[in-house]
Amino acid sequence: MPPKPKISPSLICWFRKCRRDLPWRENRTLYRVWVSEVMLQQTRVDTVIPYFLRFLDRFPDVSALAKADLQDVLKLWEGLGYYARARNLHRAARKITDEFSGIIPPDPERFRSLPGVGPYISAAVMSIACGYPLPVVDGNVLRAVCRIFALKDDISRPSAKKKVAALLTKQIPETQPGDFNEALMELGATVCTPKSPRCTRCPLAKLCMAKQAGIVSELPVKTPKAPVPEFRVVVAVIRNENGQILIQKRPENGLLGGLWEFPGGKVEKGEAPAAALERECREELGVKVKTGREIATIRHAYTHFKILLTAFHCRIEEGTVQSRLPLKWAEMEEIDTLPFPKANHKIFPYLRGHAVSGREQPPGT
Ligand code: ADE
Repeated sequence: MPPKPKISPSLICWFRKCRRDLPWRENRTLYRVWVSEVMLQQTRVDTVIPYFLRFLDRFPDVSALAKADLQDVLKLWEGLGYYARARNLHRAARKITDEFSGIIPPDPERFRSLPGVGPYISAAVMSIACGYPLPVVDGNVLRAVCRIFALKDDISRPSAKKKVAALLTKQIPETQPGDFNEALMELGATVCTPKSPRCTRCPLAKLCMAKQAGIVSELPVKTPKAPVPEFRVVVAVIRNENGQILIQKRPENGLLGGLWEFPGGKVEKGEAPAAALERECREELGVKVKTGREIATIRHAYTHFKILLTAFHCRIEEGTVQSRLPLKWAEMEEIDTLPFPKANHKIFPYLRGHAVSGREQPPGT
C-alpha cells in the first residue's frame, strides 16, 4: 500500500484563508460551540444560522438554558427537526447546573456524560473549544476522506466510519485539532461535494489519491438506500363552542417528543380515512366524532418515512374528551406560541383561510 499523504498543513492553511464567516466562529465559548455543533448535526449550515442566532439571543448561556421551560426551547427549535437534540441539550444544561456547578465540563470524559453527547458531538466540541485531538467523522468528512485516500469501503457500513476515524486519529495534529476538524468538514461541504466536486479549488488536489487514480467520481462507494415508505395519516380539527381547537401534546420521548399536534394517526391498510379518524378519536380521546369536510392534504418527508396527511373538520357526537396525554383547547393565537411539527404547520394556513393552492395527490394517482 502506498504511504498516506499528510494532509493537515495544506488543509489548515486553506481553512485559515478561506473559511466562511459563521456566527459560532466568533466569540468562541464552549457553550456557543456546543449549541452550534448540536444544531449542525444532520443539518446544513445555512439552515442553522438563524436558529443559532435566535437561540443564543434567548439563551445566552448554560444557566439561561437550564432555567428555561422545555416548551420554549422546543419552540425555538421548531422546524429544525430531530427534537431529541433540543430536549437533550436542555437536560444537559440542567445537569451542568446541578452537578457541575454551572460550568460545562471542559474535558471529554465528563462532557461525554451529558445527555445527547455522543462520539460526534464530543469530538467536535472538545477539539474546537478545548483543543483535544479527537477526529470528527460526519457525512462530509467521510466522503472527502474516502476520496483523499482512495478508500473503496462502502460508507453505508459502520466499519467504513471506524476506518476513517482511525485514519484521522493519525492525521489530526496536536496543535489546532479544532481547525483540522472544521477544515475537513468545510472542505466536504464546500469543495469535495457529492456531485461535481471543485477539484480545481481543492487545497489537497496534489495529494488526493482518488484524483491521481482518476476515480474521484467513483468515490465514495455507497449502497443505495431502500426507498422510504409513505404512510397515510389523518388528523382532526375539532372546535368547541368558542371556536377553540383541540390539540394534544406528544409524549416527551420519541419522535417529535414534547411537540403539540392535532389528534389523529395512521390509516390502516384497507381503512377509509374517515373511519381511521373516527377510530383514532375513539381510542385517543374517548369520544365519538363525525368526520366532516376535508381541510387540506399535505405531504411531508421525515428521515425514514414520508407521510401524506389529510386534516378534516370533525364534530364530537358523543362523550367528553379525555386522554393520557395533555390536551388543550386553543385559539390560533395560542397555537402560534406552541411548538408544532412542520407537517402541522403546513395545515395552519388553511385554518386561517390564507392557503392558496389545493391538495396533494394521494399515492398512486
Ligand atoms: N458541520 C458541523 N460542524 C461544522 C463546523 N464547525 N464547521 C463547518 N461545518 C460543520
